[in-house]
Amino acid sequence: MNGMVIFKMNSIEEINIEAKPFLKWAGGKNQLLMELNKILPQKILDNKKIDNYIEPFVGGGAMFFFLRSKYNIKKSVLIDVNRELILGYKVIQNNYKELINELHVLEDIYLSKSEENRKKYYYEIRSVYNHQMTEFDYINYNDEWIMRVVYLIFLNKTGFNGLFRQNSKGEFNVPQGRYKNPKICDEKNIIQVNQALKDTQIICNDFTVAEEYIDKDSFVYLDPPYRPLNKTSNFTSYSKTGFTDHDQKRLTEFYRRMALNGAYLMLSNSDPKNNDPNDEFFDDLYTGFKIKRVPARRIINCNASKRGELNEIIIKNY
Ligand SMILES: C[S@@+](CC[C@H](N)C(=O)[O-])C[C@H]1O[C@@H](n2cnc3c(N)ncnc32)[C@H](O)[C@@H]1O
Repeated sequence: MNGMVIFKMNSIEEINIEAKPFLKWAGGKNQLLMELNKILPQKILDNKKIDNYIEPFVGGGAMFFFLRSKYNIKKSVLIDVNRELILGYKVIQNNYKELINELHVLEDIYLSKSEENRKKYYYEIRSVYNHQMTEFDYINYNDEWIMRVVYLIFLNKTGFNGLFRQNSKGEFNVPQGRYKNPKICDEKNIIQVNQALKDTQIICNDFTVAEEYIDKDSFVYLDPPYRPLNKTSNFTSYSKTGFTDHDQKRLTEFYRRMALNGAYLMLSNSDPKNNDPNDEFFDDLYTGFKIKRVPARRIINCNASKRGELNEIIIKNY
């Protein structure tokens, strides 16, 4: 070849993507990924390919990033009703370099402070973040989105338990966490997430908008907010509105419509039988579909004594 060096550019399919969720998110599916992987549609397991991936309750995206690292996903649509979360995905998609720079600046400032001053700083940022909310333009992408996502990631990495929780006014209300050396800027992962989001449409809306993207070649993974295990379990309020039993029924109707489309559907939720063996809530809603129960460790429970082995219910139409 006359000494000529040929550089072969990798196509996105060939790049080994190892992205992980960029936020810690309540209900994150990390614990369950291996179980869910085993029960994917056979054609995905055989061909190592997903033509059209749809996730209408994406949250931190543990399942999406996991599948992205193992299968060739041609295109995908990620949806969530939480507008702060969706800003995060969009900024990583459009301005990840600026995001990384600003996160590094904030990380240096925070880590150089004494314990007392870190605390003050955390609450200052939280206050700015909450005040900004009323006037913020969540509709039209603009430069201000970058700093809001910097704050979102900062608060998520330095707040108590790495939670994202809002009060009824939509204000972020998590207290400071006492981490010695929090990794506020995980540069490598943000770059990976940016790569993983190629050919991905990101939408802030109710799950029902997924309908227009779902066809017979789609694989749809649905992970709605958990139905509370008991009345005191308050970790189902992912958004200002919460997700009621009425929403669970709306979701069943949606599921039945999509099943008629020929799409492959997998849905997970907490198993109400963990609490009451006679509770047939999901068994009744999803009669006619394949219902499987798998052990899962619940990561977030306000009561430490209740962190333990609990079943997750999985509903498939294939
Ligand atoms: C159990 S979490 C998903 C967790 C995700 N699988 C993960 O690994 O992080 C449920 C998500 O549903 C979102 N959500 C709640 N109501 C919704 C709705 N009506 N439409 C779409 N998303 C909704 C919440 O904002 C939350 O991110």
